[in-house]
Amino acid sequence: MTNSLRVRLLWWLLVPLAIYVFVTGKAAYDNARHTADLVQENTLLASARMIAGEVEWSDSRLLVDVPPAALEVFASPQGDQVFYNVSVDDGRLLAGAPDFPTLPAAGHDEPDYYDADLHGKSIRAVGFVRQMYDNGAIRRVLVSVGKTQASRDAMFRELWRPQFVRQIEMVLLAVALACIGLTFELRPLLKVKEEVMDRDPMQLEPLRVERLHTELRPIVEAINQCIARLGLQVAAQRRFIADAAHQLRTPLTLLETQLQFARQHRDMEPSLSETLAAMQRSNRSMVGLTNKLLLLAQAEAADYTQLAKQKVDLAAIAQDVIEDLAMFAQKREIDLGAELADSAWIIGHEALLSALVYNMAENAIRYTQQGGHVTVAVARDAGRVTLTVTDDGPGIPAEARSRVFEPFYRASADTEGTGLGLAIAKEIVQAHRADIALRAREHPARGLIVAVEFASG
Ligand SMILES: Nc1ncnc2c1ncn2[C@@H]1O[C@H](COP(=O)(O)OP(=O)(O)OP(=O)(O)O)[C@@H](O)[C@H]1O
Ligand SMILES: [Mg+2]
Repeated sequence: MTNSLRVRLLWWLLVPLAIYVFVTGKAAYDNARHTADLVQENTLLASARMIAGEVEWSDSRLLVDVPPAALEVFASPQGDQVFYNVSVDDGRLLAGAPDFPTLPAAGHDEPDYYDADLHGKSIRAVGFVRQMYDNGAIRRVLVSVGKTQASRDAMFRELWRPQFVRQIEMVLLAVALACIGLTFELRPLLKVKEEVMDRDPMQLEPLRVERLHTELRPIVEAINQCIARLGLQVAAQRRFIADAAHQLRTPLTLLETQLQFARQHRDMEPSLSETLAAMQRSNRSMVGLTNKLLLLAQAEAADYTQLAKQKVDLAAIAQDVIEDLAMFAQKREIDLGAELADSAWIIGHEALLSALVYNMAENAIRYTQQGGHVTVAVARDAGRVTLTVTDDGPGIPAEARSRVFEPFYRASADTEGTGLGLAIAKEIVQAHRADIALRAREHPARGLIVAVEFASG
């Protein structure tokens, strides 16, 4: 059997209902036939009795005058045909159709009912005997009345059909109501499904159970427990990365000091001096990587509900970052410009937002060729604050644009970098419930626009 809840429920409903309808329908059918037969037989007998009541002696001869009322009792819209036969036991016909299929006159007074054929029509008939006494002689007069079955069939139909139709209607109504009811009642479950589907992969809040039926709650509660355990797991992992990065910083800082000290030695062989310098460069990039890992862990752990308490001016933050990067831009001969609103207040975390602007601007300066232009802009309009960094460098090909947000993904191998900058930026943006987008520039047709849109605070 199919696995659909709707179909299964319908089977549970339909099979017992069909059996019920069949059993009650059969009983109603038999009952109706019995009633129609009874009514017909009563009328036949009444008519036969009426005719028999009119049989009388006249000059030692039996005579009968069939009263019209005896035949009128059969009047019906179906126009049944009525036949009768009154005959004496010596074979003499007193009235009626001579070819009427009579029964042999039985000795008792009980009426006999029987089916017969007359003129090619099937009829139901009664045979009723009246004893007539005359001077010690007994004559038995057999009155037989028969009629075609049209009115009896009509009555039979009228008795059982409406009831049967009503029951079929009831079954159909029950099926329709079950389908509609189930569709309505399953809606909350579909809502849960949509809620789960629409979720961000890292969104680990529990699903809402208030609107759910008592029967469905345990399922969603079990899912919620699973989400909670997953949340703990993810938090433990993030803590581990943050702790590891933090632990690495101390020996790396120490190493830096030691290398600096070692390089101060005079009379060193030039090759050794070169090795030490290379070691110092490697150590610095290790420090850079460790710091970025720590920042990524911090950004991942940042929670909007905690950020919500602080208001920061994004324009002021951007101004500070531009000042920090001025030297780097100068070194790379990049024209670093700013288009900042007077103030742009948003809800957020100052250090994280500073890292966001830094990563975006640093990328633009680093990947744009010498003599290029980079502009950092903060604009405020209609309840939104937009941060954009525009450059006229090589840009990012469309197919790589979604991948550059992945940790350690790098589109250009010829420059130094860890591949964490945009992954951190994305986490920071998500923690602020904002959106980040990469767009190709149209005028001029080279370069990149990175835009982040915040709700203003
Ligand atoms: N403004 C830009 N113009 C051209 N390419 C860019 C730009 N910004 C980022 N990219 C490309 O996207 C890749 C990912 O950038 P991301 O900032 O995440 O890492 P990274 O700059 O390589 O390393 P990190 O920033 O961690 O030192 C870069 O390797 C670079 O190829
Ligand atoms: Mg970068």
